[in-house]
Amino acid sequence: MRYFRPVEFSIKTLSPEAARTGCVVVGVFQDKKLTAAARRLDQASKGALARALRDLSGKTGSTLLLHGLPGVAAERVLLVGLGDSEPREPAYLAAVRAAANVLKDLDAKDAALFLVDMKIAERAVSWNVRHAALGMREAFYRFDQMKSQKKADAPALASVVLPLSPKAELQQALKEAAATADGVALARTLGNLPANICTPAYLADEAKKLAREFKLELEVLERKDMEKLGMGSFLSVARASQQPPKLIVLHYNNAKSKKPLALVGKGITFDTGGISLKPAGEMDEMKYDMSGAGSVLGAIRALAGMKAPVNVVGVIPACENMPGGAATKPGDVVTTLSGQTVEILNTDAEGRLILCDAISYAERFKPDAVIDIATLTGACVIALGHVATGLFANDQRLADEIRAAADESWDRVWQMPLWEDYQEQLRSNFADFANIGGRPGGSITAACFLARFTRKMRWAHLDIAGTAWKSGRDKGSTGRPVPLLVRFALRHAGKK
Ligand code: BES
Ligand code: MN
Ligand code: ZN
Repeated sequence: MRYFRPVEFSIKTLSPEAARTGCVVVGVFQDKKLTAAARRLDQASKGALARALRDLSGKTGSTLLLHGLPGVAAERVLLVGLGDSEPREPAYLAAVRAAANVLKDLDAKDAALFLVDMKIAERAVSWNVRHAALGMREAFYRFDQMKSQKKADAPALASVVLPLSPKAELQQALKEAAATADGVALARTLGNLPANICTPAYLADEAKKLAREFKLELEVLERKDMEKLGMGSFLSVARASQQPPKLIVLHYNNAKSKKPLALVGKGITFDTGGISLKPAGEMDEMKYDMSGAGSVLGAIRALAGMKAPVNVVGVIPACENMPGGAATKPGDVVTTLSGQTVEILNTDAEGRLILCDAISYAERFKPDAVIDIATLTGACVIALGHVATGLFANDQRLADEIRAAADESWDRVWQMPLWEDYQEQLRSNFADFANIGGRPGGSITAACFLARFTRKMRWAHLDIAGTAWKSGRDKGSTGRPVPLLVRFALRHAGKK
């Protein structure tokens, strides 16, 4: 695997006109009002900046690059539009992204990002720091490991200064962002890898690498282990695949006295639908059906990378959902690890069938809370589009904590109902219940199915079907919800 050294960030007091760097980045509002840093550059250059503003709209994310301004030590000045003069979060994030996209193509090895000192709604400066570093790293991500001709244009940019006075709390925010960016990149790469490479065994190997690098405890259960345990539901999904299923259990424990947070990630490395075969259009995107698994590995990587004082166990059921002579058939009844029986009316509702056994398995770790993360339903995409992850929980305090973490990480969620009224849609004439509940409220009945396995635990479910990847021209994994999971784990451990 080819590896570009990621851009490094540091926090240092700097003045915009005196900074000796490849590029200083400053903001300009839509009404052509200058930010404080931009004003200083304008004064130092005797109005050169204000004159150049004729060519910049100041709209959010617009950019203008200036070279060799008199009185300014930096080689270049990048002006970035911030839109409204009281910028909110989306404007800041768009400005960071726009700056990164220009910096990416410059022959500058360092830069200073003066956007970080802006007041963004109610946010503290540490929020700006986290999102500057994470946003830039996300924009610099690329995936070309499957191309025979690699692009030779590795970005020249090696380091970025965030010009602020280096307080401990900002250094901590930076450390969190850098480790989170590593976790996001891992999740994205695992998602983007094709299903002929990223198999259940590949995911297990990836967990092994993490275990080695960060000295984590790892256990990988094989088919025979799961047969012995009685994971009839998980194994029913893996039946027709040539790829052996794996149950990956990865512990990161840096808070020995605390009960663990269990993260359970759906790891379907390819979802054909099975006998309830999916239509051909866009079926390639079902390589992303392991994004929940990728986000669990990514979050653990991030937490271990920043040595967070948390106790987390990742549980990943990984297999392929294939048709074939041995495949599970509609109408088949299976027995789950919990002992409850399920009538499989649609083999394409396989995520819940592997998650229920993994969640029951997680119970043995006596978790403080369980969060499962899954590309579970097309219905969730219809309900919330590609903006918000669907949140379901059997405990409102847990839901509120997740909502707060989602807001801080801007990795947003929207809570959906989990009322008992929906449960009757899962009724079955032949088993305890069925694995589908019809079209109405499809993401809710999927969550209701999982709720039947979590009665003894504080549990939340994140349906990331709409948020884990992008389709179309920009097709690719987003790495969501790694930022949310990391922020949640830190908050939950009492870290601000
Ligand atoms: N992995 C899919 C969900 C999915 C579909 C995510 C499209 C993103 C885009 C899941 O396994 C699935 O197939 N769900 C079915 C459930 C249905 C059969 C009740 C669905 O959503 O159609
Ligand atoms: Mn499916
Ligand atoms: Zn699926």
